[in-house]
Amino acid sequence: MMIMYIPKFKLCFWLLSVLCLINCSLEFDPTDNYLINCGSSTNASVGNRVFLGDSNLNSSIVLSTPQKIRANTSSSSIPFSYSSDLYKTAEIYTEISNYTLSVTKHGRHWVRLHFFPFVYQSYNLSHAKFSVSGLNFTLLRDFQLTEDNPVIKEYLLNIASDKLVLTITPSSKSFAFLNALEVVSVPDELIPDSVKPVDSAGSNENLVNQALETVFRVNMGNTTVNPQNDTLSREWVPDEAFLKSHNLVQFLSNPKPVNYTKVGPTKEIAPPSVYGTASWLNTERDPTLNVNVTWYFNVDLGFKYLVRFHFCDIINNQPGQLMFNVFINSWYAYKHLDLSNKTSNLVASPYYLDVVLSESHVDMLTVSVGTSSDTSVYPNAMLNGLEIMKISNSKGLLDVDAESLKPSSKAKTGLIVGVAVGAVFIFMVLALVFFMAVRRRKRTYSDATKNKSNGATESGYRFSFAAIKKATNNFDESLVIGVGGFGKVYKGVLEDNTEVAIKRGNSDSQQGLNEFRTEIEMLSHFRHRHLVSLIGYCDEQNEMILIYEYMVNGTLKSHLYGADYPNLSWKQRLEICVGSARGLYYLHTGSAKSIIHRDVKSANILLDENRMAKVADFGLSKTGPDIDHTHVSTAVKGSFGYLDPEYLIRQQLTEKSDVYSFGVVLFEVLCGRPVIDPSLPREKVNMVEWAMKLQKKGEFEKLIDPNLKAK
Ligand SMILES: *[C@@H]1O[C@H](CO)[C@@H](O)[C@H](O)[C@H]1NC(C)=O
Ligand SMILES: *[C@@H]1O[C@H](CO)[C@@H](O)[C@H](O)[C@H]1NC(C)=O
Ligand SMILES: *[C@@H]1O[C@H](CO)[C@@H](O)[C@H](O)[C@H]1NC(C)=O
Ligand SMILES: *[C@@H]1O[C@H](CO)[C@@H](O)[C@H](O)[C@H]1NC(C)=O
Ligand SMILES: *[C@@H]1O[C@H](CO)[C@@H](O)[C@H](O)[C@H]1NC(C)=O
Ligand SMILES: *[C@@H]1O[C@H](CO)[C@@H](O)[C@H](O)[C@H]1NC(C)=O
Ligand SMILES: *[C@@H]1O[C@H](CO)[C@@H](O)[C@H](O)[C@H]1NC(C)=O
Ligand SMILES: *[C@@H]1O[C@H](CO)[C@@H](O)[C@H](O)[C@H]1NC(C)=O
Ligand SMILES: *[C@@H]1O[C@H](CO)[C@@H](O)[C@H](O)[C@H]1NC(C)=O
Ligand SMILES: *[C@@H]1O[C@H](CO)[C@@H](O)[C@H](O)[C@H]1NC(C)=O
Ligand SMILES: *[C@@H]1O[C@H](CO)[C@@H](O)[C@H](O)[C@H]1NC(C)=O
Repeated sequence: MMIMYIPKFKLCFWLLSVLCLINCSLEFDPTDNYLINCGSSTNASVGNRVFLGDSNLNSSIVLSTPQKIRANTSSSSIPFSYSSDLYKTAEIYTEISNYTLSVTKHGRHWVRLHFFPFVYQSYNLSHAKFSVSGLNFTLLRDFQLTEDNPVIKEYLLNIASDKLVLTITPSSKSFAFLNALEVVSVPDELIPDSVKPVDSAGSNENLVNQALETVFRVNMGNTTVNPQNDTLSREWVPDEAFLKSHNLVQFLSNPKPVNYTKVGPTKEIAPPSVYGTASWLNTERDPTLNVNVTWYFNVDLGFKYLVRFHFCDIINNQPGQLMFNVFINSWYAYKHLDLSNKTSNLVASPYYLDVVLSESHVDMLTVSVGTSSDTSVYPNAMLNGLEIMKISNSKGLLDVDAESLKPSSKAKTGLIVGVAVGAVFIFMVLALVFFMAVRRRKRTYSDATKNKSNGATESGYRFSFAAIKKATNNFDESLVIGVGGFGKVYKGVLEDNTEVAIKRGNSDSQQGLNEFRTEIEMLSHFRHRHLVSLIGYCDEQNEMILIYEYMVNGTLKSHLYGADYPNLSWKQRLEICVGSARGLYYLHTGSAKSIIHRDVKSANILLDENRMAKVADFGLSKTGPDIDHTHVSTAVKGSFGYLDPEYLIRQQLTEKSDVYSFGVVLFEVLCGRPVIDPSLPREKVNMVEWAMKLQKKGEFEKLIDPNLKAK
């Protein structure tokens, strides 16, 4: 009754204030909000969202399809925590079909496609194969489900017209299906127009005209955030599966209160359950500790990625206690990040950082946070959430372009070696052709389409220590085929009778551990017929064991001198040189960032049963040369006699250091003698010096392996 007497504007004001109070807990209200339960006549509720049965749809959304097939299943075995109803029906499309939706608000929209395969009459949805496109972007291309769990594909399209047409195209002789479809407006601030690249000094990446696909959305602190608990209905998965090693990581999984401010990110950027939990580095035991926490993500080659880091200092009660580095692969995403500075000295206040990785040169993206060398603060590092979004490429594709990732069938360079040409010149030509005169080519990965799953341990296979012991007859000394700085190499036989070489590292050195990791990483991403391939590894019980294909004919070195192998003919030597040059050339140019081997020598070139050469031992490999301009941390590594003098002096690593070492190998092949041979007269001890001397005197032929003379 009282209210009747309150003037209207006062009432409005009062209502507004109440609304304002409630507003803090109100969810974002999307303008366009299409939630469709495909193939069903009934609505399905997911949390507080209602997916409309397609017979309840109004004229704002039109499905044009030549043939309507509604599939259903009674299966109750849907392994999903929240809406099984959504996945009990599907629309099947046997020919090209379109959804045409009216768009009220221009700008970014989620497009989420839900898939859950079941069997309906003659349709086994697991066999469906199809493409989906929208605007001018290919979202899915000859897509097939590979698992029995519901799959949600999530995209962000920037829609600038009043209509969105989503086209579903079955691949030839197949069909398509959809269990549910979402097209929903997102807040304008969610995706910026342009973002700074992390791996080049180039200009910002313009995102306005690009489509994005969420490939990973991770909540640090190892807890799931369900779509119902996120105002934009996103799902955040726990991070443990992406950590390779987590003995230094602490999960803070009970959400702490988060202080959202007017200037900082909103709950739409990430909800409190993301900012309120974290994974952080536990350095309590050692304040001098200098380490990184690293998460590993399998990504598709050849795409750019938008990476968003979510931070919120929920550890400290005071500002200014936290400073750390943030990396993507080996690039700084942020050096000495001081969170307090970003949050106006408030603790528990969120901050996010966007960067673009403009070239995925391996199919693994790593994200690290690590202690900063700034000693004024206690060493620590943390991360609260992470999103990795694939950016559509120049062809408007978001799905793997399987064709472009196939290795080129042609040899890279047509190399014609005239037999009549003098030996020395051939070597020079070889070196030139492979390393200098050839224009750089784009990637040709041979193994890029291998299956992608979460986690990082799918590089080759992870073997149990028991299996290794069995394969090597409990590390029988009589099976040792090599000994190096890293440890011993055994010949082994696996369960399935495959012969393998098993390298067992000395587990006590930190250096060894780095080399172990580098080698696994390199060999699992760089596959080539002239690079030795990794079969698996074992890291149980602090072991560092690598399992390679067995190379029957041992090292190139052992064929040149000192062992009982029969002499190699000139032709065989040439083929070995060409092969190993190809392997090295691939390392240098097979990806956007070239890989420098750093330990090229005749003992690291192995020969298979056909005496085909394969380059081995990637423990010291590095990407280069750009990174080393920023930190001069790299100690000089390599083998005596093969080291590039320029690298020794300037400590700057480039591919040319490998070229130098390879040149030494070429001389070794030509001379048939060790690079350093103390048993020879002093002037001849160092092969390279000796060769230079003879060259000056014009007596090159004195160098040549006597076994080659007159052949
Ligand atoms: C049609 O339904 C959608 C939700 O599915 C709604 O956003 C839109 O406003 C409706 N349009 C009309 C004209 O009723
Ligand atoms: C489905 O939901 C819509 C919108 O909320 C409603 O209009 C319709 O009556 C519902 N249909 C059924 C069968 O519940
Ligand atoms: C599928 O739907 C039809 C028609 O609504 C119904 O008769 C049938 O029982 C349903 N089948 C399953 C497996 O739910
Ligand atoms: C779907 O849309 C495309 C392009 O807009 C058009 O070429 C095609 O005919 C449409 N198909 C159907 C079944 O409406
Ligand atoms: C459907 O296809 C999947 C994958 O090929 C297969 O594993 C499954 O057995 C098939 N189901 C039926 C009922 O044929
Ligand atoms: C698709 O591309 C064509 C040609 O590049 C362009 O004219 C058209 O506007 C684009 N359509 C949309 C929806 O962006
Ligand atoms: C992390 O989360 C996963 C999935 O919920 C769970 O299986 C695992 O035990 C958790 N790990 C830790 C250390 O809490
Ligand atoms: C949250 O931030 C505001 C400033 O935006 C500050 O006044 C308030 O004290 C903070 N609350 C807590 C719990 O830190
Ligand atoms: C959502 O998160 C809040 C904490 O931020 C928590 O209290 C609540 O239980 C969560 N709800 C669900 C459905 O997970
Ligand atoms: C942390 O990772 C970065 C990037 O890969 C690397 O440069 C740095 O050396 C690492 N720090 C430690 C202590 O391992
Ligand atoms: C953050 O750092 C910048 C540069 O050092 C400084 O200008 C600015 O005042 C700092 N802001 C806060 C809130 O400390």
